[in-house]
Amino acid sequence: MAITILAIESSCDDTSVAIIRDGYVLSNLIASQAIHMSYGGVVPELASRAHQANIVPVTHEAILKAGIKTSDINAVAFTRGPGLLGSLLVGTSFAKGFALSLEIPLIEVNHLQAHVLAHFILEKGRETRLPSFPFLCLLVSGGHTRMIVMKSHLEMEVIGNTIDDAAGEAFDKCGKVMGFSYPAGPLIDKLAKDGNKNAFRFAKPSVKGLDFSFSGLKTSFLYFLRDRLKEDPDFIDRNKADLCASLQFVIVSVLIGKLAKAAALTGIKEIGIAGGVSANSGLRNAIKEEADKRNWNLFIPDINYTTDNAAMIGITGYYKYLRGEFSDHSITPLARY
Ligand code: KG4
Ligand code: ZN
Repeated sequence: MAITILAIESSCDDTSVAIIRDGYVLSNLIASQAIHMSYGGVVPELASRAHQANIVPVTHEAILKAGIKTSDINAVAFTRGPGLLGSLLVGTSFAKGFALSLEIPLIEVNHLQAHVLAHFILEKGRETRLPSFPFLCLLVSGGHTRMIVMKSHLEMEVIGNTIDDAAGEAFDKCGKVMGFSYPAGPLIDKLAKDGNKNAFRFAKPSVKGLDFSFSGLKTSFLYFLRDRLKEDPDFIDRNKADLCASLQFVIVSVLIGKLAKAAALTGIKEIGIAGGVSANSGLRNAIKEEADKRNWNLFIPDINYTTDNAAMIGITGYYKYLRGEFSDHSITPLARY
């Protein structure tokens, strides 16, 4: 019998609902919240209100697009955390109500594990290479920068973490300093393509072991611009592409450097990246070069599954379903998982 999972993701500012059948995506809808753009970051209260408004229509659309009936759904998977508590509460409550009304199991999912398991999402008509275990994955998103070893689909060990800002935050905060709206990562990526990565030098953060730090880079970027703007008020406009290319270059070199270190320390050659920042073209190109040099079996996620999406929650839910890992209705969301 086919196993059909309804998956719900609401950890931050995207309301996403997906239908996954036997590991294949039947639909994956994302309602992004433009409301935060002018605030320079996600406003938690506005995010939870937008989730409330979006969750029913997005679910309805996901079911229609998948071409299934609600009675075909075997379980409801939802993001339990980490994330914004108010946003998580909307998804959790909705998932519980849905599961209860159909009398089907509820499955809680760790958002970070789901980002890594995005590598296992299958699509009809697309050939997918699947990583084998142990799988070393660098998770880089707006909220997290972690070095993760997956020992099986559901067993993960975190071997490196950021001690302050996440890589995505470094993109977003530096972008904000340049006057870009939130999230700035995609625009920096685009502008960097026409810039010189060696035009400016910013302090490369150095932290021992496999941990990361990005707050110093943000401060150095801010001070650098403050000084240049004193001499030339149009400095940012005149040098946008070079600033973006130089900033992206530092962030990417830190990430690649740590990944190479982790690969050497663990001896793992099955290597991947995941999370919103893994959409970055500079990172994708740099990791391909590194993989060629070091003989890695490299996994780069499909661009649709890099930023927050419910398909990754659904694939994780699917593996949990196979193991019979269901949740009780007394479960509550966790801002920190
Ligand atoms: O995984 P995600 O959607 O949300 C979290 O779980 O945090 O990641 C969002 C982050 C944002 O910081 C955004 O600026 C960054 O991913 N991002 C990018 C790119 N696309 C998204 N950063 C750099 N280059 C990109 N192309
Ligand atoms: Zn995420």
